[in-house]
Amino acid sequence: MTSQVSKTVLRLEAEDVQALKDGINFKRNPEDGKCYIIYKGKDKIRACVNQCKHQGGLFIEDIEDLDGSTVRCTKHYWKLNVATMEYVNPPDSFMQDELEAVLSDTDGSLELVELNPPDPWTAEPREAQELRAGEITLTYLTHACMELKAGNKRMMFDPWLTGPAFARGWWLLHEPPSDAMDRLSQADLIYISHMHSDHLSYPTLKHLSKRRPDIPIYVGDTSRPVFWYLEKSGVNLTNINVVPFGVWQNVDEHLRFMILMDGVHPEMDTCLIVEYKGHMILNTVDCTRPNNGRLPHGVDLMMSDFAGGASGFPMAFHDGKYTGESHIALNSWKADFIKTERKKLLHYKTQLVKSLQPKIYCPFAGYFTEAHPSDRSAITEPPNDTKILKDSWDFDLYLDELNASVSAEIFKYKSLIQYYYNWAGFKGYNLVIRVIETDDDFKPLKGGYEYLVDFLDLSFPDVRPERDHAYEEIKNRVNVMRHVVLNGGLWDDLYIGFNNRMSRDPDVYHHK
Ligand code: FES
Repeated sequence: MTSQVSKTVLRLEAEDVQALKDGINFKRNPEDGKCYIIYKGKDKIRACVNQCKHQGGLFIEDIEDLDGSTVRCTKHYWKLNVATMEYVNPPDSFMQDELEAVLSDTDGSLELVELNPPDPWTAEPREAQELRAGEITLTYLTHACMELKAGNKRMMFDPWLTGPAFARGWWLLHEPPSDAMDRLSQADLIYISHMHSDHLSYPTLKHLSKRRPDIPIYVGDTSRPVFWYLEKSGVNLTNINVVPFGVWQNVDEHLRFMILMDGVHPEMDTCLIVEYKGHMILNTVDCTRPNNGRLPHGVDLMMSDFAGGASGFPMAFHDGKYTGESHIALNSWKADFIKTERKKLLHYKTQLVKSLQPKIYCPFAGYFTEAHPSDRSAITEPPNDTKILKDSWDFDLYLDELNASVSAEIFKYKSLIQYYYNWAGFKGYNLVIRVIETDDDFKPLKGGYEYLVDFLDLSFPDVRPERDHAYEEIKNRVNVMRHVVLNGGLWDDLYIGFNNRMSRDPDVYHHK
């Protein structure tokens, strides 16, 4: 195993150190062009790389900050307090990785030092061996599902082969090959990157479990377990392996893999390195900052998503600047936002690929469509020349299950509302929400519930409190809402699946 190494990333001579102003200083290493932030406090100097933890954006001074300790990311406007190295927006979220600031007693110089733990994939290195033509094949099946054949082994990644994801919001854009389920059930192992239902697809696993309940499935040891819903789902899988991060898992003498965590969502997101006879494949899947930016260079193949993160923003928002239809073409703010986001995403992916220099880069994991008729025109009616690669989705099978929740006995009792939010346990945050159950078109449902929840003390007032508070109005499709409540599911189904509409005052992101 290689040992930890330290590297001086920037050195300032004594006169430059004396010229540092109190508070924030931006510095650039003239040799490699990398940028750093140095914070000069009363009795301590702190420093970090000028790179946002979200998607690597550059920080600039925050003109709204009167303290002189906060910088603002130019990409999506996260804010970082460099006096504490805590991100202040989103609040209570992340810590910036800090560099050692070493001030010399002898010559007054300052060195910023990065401590680098050894890269785990360098453990027990293997020489790249020559391969026969066809010894490794990688086949795209759907969305984020790839089949990797290496030697005589078959691995599958993130199989979503049937049914919707996020309740009824996302549907496959491509028809999988007719033998896809056979291939899946013949796999030697399956890797599932995270719990989102376009990667962990219970409808797919239900089919699979009937054929091969003991198929080996591997997931990372995230603090929010990937298979948290398995028991409730009724799917019978008996060979799920939760493995530690950064440790090679040997499949046979030639094939091994290693699961790595995401730097932004370490609690739930993972990525993968597969190595066969010394040749490496890096699959960063949906990670926002895979392995916190430390990744192998020059791999044979790199795959990553090319979608901008699962989110209902801004499609599911209305009022204020979002006023108008959900459809991006009918709201210029949304249209501009999406256009800019796409540019940023392309830029970010380009930078990542340029810096890692894989031999082949394959973008994937963005192939879904809002196929259900009630979403199709509202969200993203595709442009005229778009090729539709699938034209039937068996909506009823899956919607019947959601609709069955609406009349569940438990919803006859209004006290369920208090019980549910107490069970969820979120409180101590100055936010009041109004929840309205709606039909498919987000019109309040006759006989549906409408109520307020005050998360400061987890009360359920009839009117909004007098005090200053953040407020959100959330219209939820009744079938998805009740299915989520009944099963203790995630609100991701509502929000990422475009099954709600929201307005908020003030118009800010809440994170706790
Ligand atoms: S907020 Fe900094 S990259 Fe997104």
